[in-house]
Amino acid sequence: MELDTTKNLAQTRLKVKISRRDKSVETFAAEVLQGLSSNPKTLSPKYFYDTTGSKLFENICELPEYYLTRMERAILQKYSEEIISQTSKNATLVELGSGNSAKTRLLIEALLNRSKRLHYIPIDFAKNILVESAKSLLRKYSRLKITAVVSDYHTALKAVRDKSIAGRLILFLGSSIGNFDKSEAENFLKKTKAAMGKNDRLLIGIDLIKDKGILEAAYDDAQGVTAKFNLNLLVRINRELDGDFDLTKLRHKAFFNEKLSRIEMHIESTTQQTVTLRKLNRGFSFREGETIHTENSYKYSMEQIKELAAYSGFNLEKTWVDEKKWFSLNLLKPNQ
Ligand code: TRP
Repeated sequence: MELDTTKNLAQTRLKVKISRRDKSVETFAAEVLQGLSSNPKTLSPKYFYDTTGSKLFENICELPEYYLTRMERAILQKYSEEIISQTSKNATLVELGSGNSAKTRLLIEALLNRSKRLHYIPIDFAKNILVESAKSLLRKYSRLKITAVVSDYHTALKAVRDKSIAGRLILFLGSSIGNFDKSEAENFLKKTKAAMGKNDRLLIGIDLIKDKGILEAAYDDAQGVTAKFNLNLLVRINRELDGDFDLTKLRHKAFFNEKLSRIEMHIESTTQQTVTLRKLNRGFSFREGETIHTENSYKYSMEQIKELAAYSGFNLEKTWVDEKKWFSLNLLKPNQ
């Protein structure tokens, strides 16, 4: 019998930390009740990511219309060396919302070219993807050590708050910051800054304002994957809250709200109807054309990125963009 030593050795370089978070169906029920009783109706995007939702999201990232992932990867391909040259030697790499860490490999390789060892701390609430990706990284890179943290961003900030480490490069990629509204984004950055030391740097991917047609196609693709992703929220509600949403009577709707500079994702009722969620013992009526607002994705100008950084206590050290100037990677330094 052959012993898989690579696998065993790789495991000794992996630590998994699980921070307890509330996954109870009661919390989900309470939030759905509140959202569907509001006017306009809303549902929280954090519930997108069940097993099906996480897979659909990975598919979205590979869609021809969804330029964000491709552009961010292209920027990293071109500038990884330059980016890490701005961070302290032997820096620890921390990633908020790491997903499958696909793009991060480019930075990991650059960092391993510079130093003997690297400690990578990916943080995500999707445990399976997190652990599987960590194992795959460890098999590939023998000088890598990983502490995988299963947690949401808020708890994660505590994991980041360890000022004893010389320097960290903290990643927040994929324009996830765009899913916060403007004041949430500022609060998030302020909290992150409070957890950072002076040698730490924050690298944030932010999607830029561009032609409306390109933006809208990215959130309403021809194959209907994004539609499926959005409507999967209702599949989840049907399953977990014993609901009777009829998916033939609701549709995905995404558009660019120019005034607020954001893509809005909604689920629209194509007819007047009442939906019953038996676990909640309640019906919810919909007018024809009424929508449930499920997510925003804010698009920034370079001016707005500078302002956001300044308001939250950072200096914007450098910005890298792709050739079309569709996407930006921004290196932020705590200002003092
Ligand atoms: N933050 C990314 C974005 O806003 C990814 C994302 C979050 C997304 N929710 C989504 C992409 C819903 C498509 C649909 O683009």
